[in-house]
Amino acid sequence: MTPIGIDDIELATTHHVVRLDDFAEVNGTDPNKFRLGLGQDEFSFPAPDEDIVTMAAAAAAPIIERSGTEGIRTMLFATESGTDQSKAAGMAVHSLLELPSQMRIIEVKEACYSATAALQAAVGIVTRSPGQRVLVIASDVARYELDTAGEPTQGAGAVAMLVSANPRLLEIEPVSGLNSADVDDFWRPNDSTTAIVDGALSVTAYLDSLTGAWNDLQTQDGPGIDEIDRILYHQPFTKMAKKAQVHLAGLTGAVLDTEIVAGAQTASASDPRDTGLAASTLYNRRLGNSYTASLYAGLCSLLDHDSDLAGRRIGLFSYGSGSVGEFFTARVVPGYEQHSHRETVTAALDARVPLSIDEYRALHATELPSAEDVSTPKVTAGPFRFAGVTGRARVYERS
Ligand code: HMG
Repeated sequence: MTPIGIDDIELATTHHVVRLDDFAEVNGTDPNKFRLGLGQDEFSFPAPDEDIVTMAAAAAAPIIERSGTEGIRTMLFATESGTDQSKAAGMAVHSLLELPSQMRIIEVKEACYSATAALQAAVGIVTRSPGQRVLVIASDVARYELDTAGEPTQGAGAVAMLVSANPRLLEIEPVSGLNSADVDDFWRPNDSTTAIVDGALSVTAYLDSLTGAWNDLQTQDGPGIDEIDRILYHQPFTKMAKKAQVHLAGLTGAVLDTEIVAGAQTASASDPRDTGLAASTLYNRRLGNSYTASLYAGLCSLLDHDSDLAGRRIGLFSYGSGSVGEFFTARVVPGYEQHSHRETVTAALDARVPLSIDEYRALHATELPSAEDVSTPKVTAGPFRFAGVTGRARVYERS
């Protein structure tokens, strides 16, 4: 069977960053609550002229520059922070990147899970038409109310992936474990710019979903725990990946690594096996939650920091509140390390401009007037910007 999977991947984020040490100082909280308790150091925050479209276009542009548009007839845009109830955010990306007219473009939604649905749909399209390639984009701005428990887990980011036959990075395997349950753990009503969350319930719903998806994977004759070399989880905050790993170890009886801070482990013969938990959480510690993009930012981090992945099988657990979970597996293609983006991603994270907590709170509270034309100030140093609203339609431009 022709292998199908991820041929290219790129991560983009925002112009600004909020440092959780600053946040802790202003809020009178022990900084270790965030660094150790949540496993987070910083979160990305959009400038007034950035949103899911500008991040998505910034992530997809280098992929298109490298491999052109031939065979790309579909763009699947996964997000839960959509900017319009009707028009797919991908239409603006299509225009900014001057993609061909002969394409179908849609937006997909189910909280943080939908990028995985998009990825599986892309694999289906390429299976039917192996000459085609599909652009899958996950882009989100995670926003909670100020002064809530969710606030330090905000973040923003986009991951763009090119799905093709004979991919250069990851071959996606056909078996998946699935789990759906109607649960109100986290959601965003149409009239709200911030999510509503029952934090404790969301953590148990995530772990219950992991149980259901893992058990289903076994029922479907998927690989057992000893046949999986690395494991990636959706990372709303990186400590959640550790909680998931402990949970999976309990479910399977396997002895797995549970250290999320890289370098903190020293190897010995009796150490648990390294499933990549530390390497896969490095980018998300700095991005915060990027909802649909989070699992795939974890994949970028693993690919960029683990030099021993060739031919190895990765298990990926995708979770979206509401809720849907999927546990699927993929093989890393030898030569993957030639496509590392470690330097560019690290440079982009380092280049973010810190906001003071007062500046961040003021930006968070800013809402665009809904019925007037408005121009946004030029702030972002990224390649694309959200220029404002004209006649109630959002306008984008190259910076
Ligand atoms: P909280 O108020 O920070 O909880 O809320 P906490 O007071 O229990 O503290 C968290 C951890 O910090 C605890 O460790 C404390 O012991 C520790 P744990 O028991 O979890 O191992 N801690 C400290 N550690 C070291 N030094 C200290 C210290 N103080 C405390 N000084 C909560 C946490 C997750 C509820 C909150 O951040 C929240 O509501 N977040 C948003 C919801 C969320 O991320 N849920 C995750 C699962 S649902 C999901 O992943 C889906 C989602 O991405 C959305 C989607 O699908 O679309 C959210």
